[in-house]
Amino acid sequence: MATPAADLELPSIPIIADANRDERQALLRTMAKENWLVRNEIGYSVLTYEAVMGILRDKRWHSATGLISQLRGITDEEFLSNRRVSILSAEGEVHVRLRRLVAPAFSPRSADRLRPFMRETVNGLVDAIAPLGRAEVVKDICEPYPIPIICELLGAPKEDWQSFSVWATDVLRVFSDTVAEETKIIVKARDELNEYSRGLIEQRRSVPRDDLLTDLIKSEEAGDKLTTEELETMVEAIIVGGTDTTRNQLGLALVLFAQHPDQWQKLRNDPSLAPRAVEEVMRYSGAVGGTIRIASEDIEYNGVFFPKGTFMSTSMSSGNFDESIFSTPETFDIMREPSGHPHMSFGAGIHYCLGAALARAELQESFNVLAERLPSLALAGEVVFKPTGVGIFGPSQLPITFDAGH
Ligand code: HEM
Repeated sequence: MATPAADLELPSIPIIADANRDERQALLRTMAKENWLVRNEIGYSVLTYEAVMGILRDKRWHSATGLISQLRGITDEEFLSNRRVSILSAEGEVHVRLRRLVAPAFSPRSADRLRPFMRETVNGLVDAIAPLGRAEVVKDICEPYPIPIICELLGAPKEDWQSFSVWATDVLRVFSDTVAEETKIIVKARDELNEYSRGLIEQRRSVPRDDLLTDLIKSEEAGDKLTTEELETMVEAIIVGGTDTTRNQLGLALVLFAQHPDQWQKLRNDPSLAPRAVEEVMRYSGAVGGTIRIASEDIEYNGVFFPKGTFMSTSMSSGNFDESIFSTPETFDIMREPSGHPHMSFGAGIHYCLGAALARAELQESFNVLAERLPSLALAGEVVFKPTGVGIFGPSQLPITFDAGH
């Protein structure tokens, strides 16, 4: 007979004002050694690798990412009714269908065709800073990097990159702490982006090209196709899922490498290490440290009863430091022998990151260009991080120095 979660004596994750991420992570990792389950402000959190995997792979726990706005107290009717069910928040048959239709367009092979463009993009950004020997690398490299890639992926022309950048920033305000004051900006950006996407979809319907949008338009299974509205929603999901994540993950990587010059040198000496380096960076310091689920029915898990409607956070960042899975987890080592268990920074289960192959390619290509062209990478001042409460975490300021002229 399972014990109701509410009756268990569980520690609570303390709310520490202004805690930095390292402190918070250290706290969660210490708690994880004793407890797979703890309480938090909205319900419960799972902390161990096995429990995080267990929840993410259990289809009875539904994505609660679509409820973030309500959890943050948003009541703006126009904003709430303007949202559509995206692949990230869809469940059951609706999710299975969307995923089946779009997955082929996100294969590693599709990502590979963009690798030359990725290298060209990073090289273009480095050209501007290489002679200087110093940079504000969030502004100069990380922030501008993903937009051209997403635009190229979708087939949006260069003259529209700037509009995309503005829409992406505004649509992504949905994850910020100040979302309540920004609902009007978000709705406007969504409407403009949808209108733009509609135009692009019409163009691709009449003149197909070698890009993702054309692939998505063509994707068909047993006579089933994505509607125009579903295609628009998918474009928004790609922007929401594929811009801030990548730029923050790259920023976190550069913080780590600046702090571990021996690892940067290893990568510079042997570019074939890039895939392993990406996996280790994401294990050690993932831009998405957790996600949320809601019990779609009464659930018994691991001897505990969770009533329908229970909120559950899954702490991928503490699972990634689980000693029973990763030996000496506190050591950052791009030569780490594969444990046979993937890191969890791309999630797990049915919502596993759709853009994982693309993100891996983007990070691998940028790592190699940057390791070659920014030798002796070092911090040149204080690194400022985003607040720990944000869904996608990374540095907001990262001043660096390096040997000029490469
Ligand atoms: C390093 C970069 C990235 C990280 C850390 C990341 C992380 C994640 C995580 C943790 C999830 C699962 C969320 C959950 O279960 O609630 C996810 C889902 C998703 N990601 Fe990514 N992501 C990255 C890059 C991308 C890119 C480049 C794209 C698109 C081009 C993308 C598109 C998506 C989509 C559409 C989903 C929803 C999939 C579904 O629900 O079936 N992501 N991502």
